[in-house]
Amino acid sequence: MKSVYLNNLYKFKKDKHKFAAITAYDYSFAKIFSEHGIKILLVGDSLGMTIQGELNTLKVTIKEMSYHTRCVRKGAPDAFIIADMPFMSYATLDKAYKNAAKLIQAGANMIKVEGDNWLYDTIKMLTDRSVPVCGHLGLTPQYINILNGYKVQGKNNTDANKIIKSAISLENAGIKLLVLECIPVSLATIITKKLSIPTIGIGAGNKTDGQILVMQDAFGLTYNPPKFSKNFLKQAGNLPNAIHMYIEEVKNSIFPDKIHSFI
Ligand code: KIV
Repeated sequence: MKSVYLNNLYKFKKDKHKFAAITAYDYSFAKIFSEHGIKILLVGDSLGMTIQGELNTLKVTIKEMSYHTRCVRKGAPDAFIIADMPFMSYATLDKAYKNAAKLIQAGANMIKVEGDNWLYDTIKMLTDRSVPVCGHLGLTPQYINILNGYKVQGKNNTDANKIIKSAISLENAGIKLLVLECIPVSLATIITKKLSIPTIGIGAGNKTDGQILVMQDAFGLTYNPPKFSKNFLKQAGNLPNAIHMYIEEVKNSIFPDKIHSFI
């Protein structure tokens, strides 16, 4: 199989071919996901919760992210791998530059940062230095102490307009992909139409260009799964079938349906 690059994702957007992505943190799952057709993997800092058992993502370090990125790359040599820059690892330009290099050298194709306009210079600086950047707007888990918990974002007009403006500004800064988390379907639809880069939704309805789920949520391994996730393993019976079902339901806009979206 040929390696997946960013241009494949842009073609998906152009062709209106909806694509499925998933988080992966280790060799074994990365291999299974990739071999069964999920070629876009996120080494998310959600590993702070799913792997380390913490209450949030804030303690994850760049060393841990590099380690997991290396494991995932071993399992999925031809996948497109996005790795999260953990909390505070991009607080200054100097930190962003050194830490992004670590993730790219560990095997990531792209790094992801959470936040809005304050990231303009960071995104430009990294892009100019050959590091593709993915943005992340809406519910940004690294902001849990500002957002007062994990809640749907952009519910009123003022908040929604702010997110739209941020998305445009991040695209102008140079992001090549945008994750939209926990926002109403209507807002995700507007942003997806306005941007020329692909959007990937999680709890953002079925109008984004792609979908992503935390793997533990997709296979029923989470004790309190979020409303927007679906246990594909329960229906499919085994892991390969569950992966295929997820891919197919995303491709045909069956998932996420209304029950798994915010209106
Ligand atoms: O860390 C993560 O898993 C993420 C996804 C929720 C998109 O950022």
